[in-house]
Amino acid sequence: MSDADTLVSARHFAYLGERAAGDDAFLRELKQAARDAGLPAIWIGPAQAAFVAILLRLCGAREVVEVGTLAGSTAISMARALPAEGRVRTIEILPRHADFAERWVARSDAARKVEVLRGAAAEVLARLPDGSVDAMLLDADKAGYPAYMAQARRLLRPGGLLMADNAFAFGQLFDEHPSDREVGAVRAFNDLVPRQDWLDAVIVPLGDGLWVGVKRGATARG
Ligand code: DHB
Ligand code: MG
Repeated sequence: MSDADTLVSARHFAYLGERAAGDDAFLRELKQAARDAGLPAIWIGPAQAAFVAILLRLCGAREVVEVGTLAGSTAISMARALPAEGRVRTIEILPRHADFAERWVARSDAARKVEVLRGAAAEVLARLPDGSVDAMLLDADKAGYPAYMAQARRLLRPGGLLMADNAFAFGQLFDEHPSDREVGAVRAFNDLVPRQDWLDAVIVPLGDGLWVGVKRGATARG
């Protein structure tokens, strides 16, 4: 045994992808409809979604908040991991994305467990009560992540789960001249997370890198 990391290649990702639960027919149809409608195809992949679902079940999540709905596929897959009384509130600033997601949520098996909240996440999150959230997933504008994380500190119960997508900056984390203008914001966020004294977090190298953290304190629902 050693503590050296295995260098993960595209082949490893393909290999684990083949061994993770894939999208069902409904999510495949949703994603195709989103592409056909011209929505950006930047949702999390099936292996990442399966991992998120496992984490939600492990922490017994009931109240989940997502920042960045896009087409709604992640909200639906998270809702499926919750008990019947569970709820995903997913925040979307673009009406076109919110409209699409609402239509597909309504058609899904998770219709009663997903609520699309329209508006700027900073404002929507500010209206939610302290300690009322079991798990949060950040997957929207990267410059907003520090503010969303500050809200997460307030909103999550002790033992609550904080996840943030795109820690690898769309594959451009180490590029000297990245083409994506959000890469700097991702790097800054990645350096900010380890300085949070309320959070134990690690980047999980699934998809484009997923921050997974737990709010310190009691692990039982408070
Ligand atoms: C982009 C954003 C995402 O959240 C993602 O998962 C992939 C790409 C983007 O802005 O390019
Ligand atoms: Mg993302």
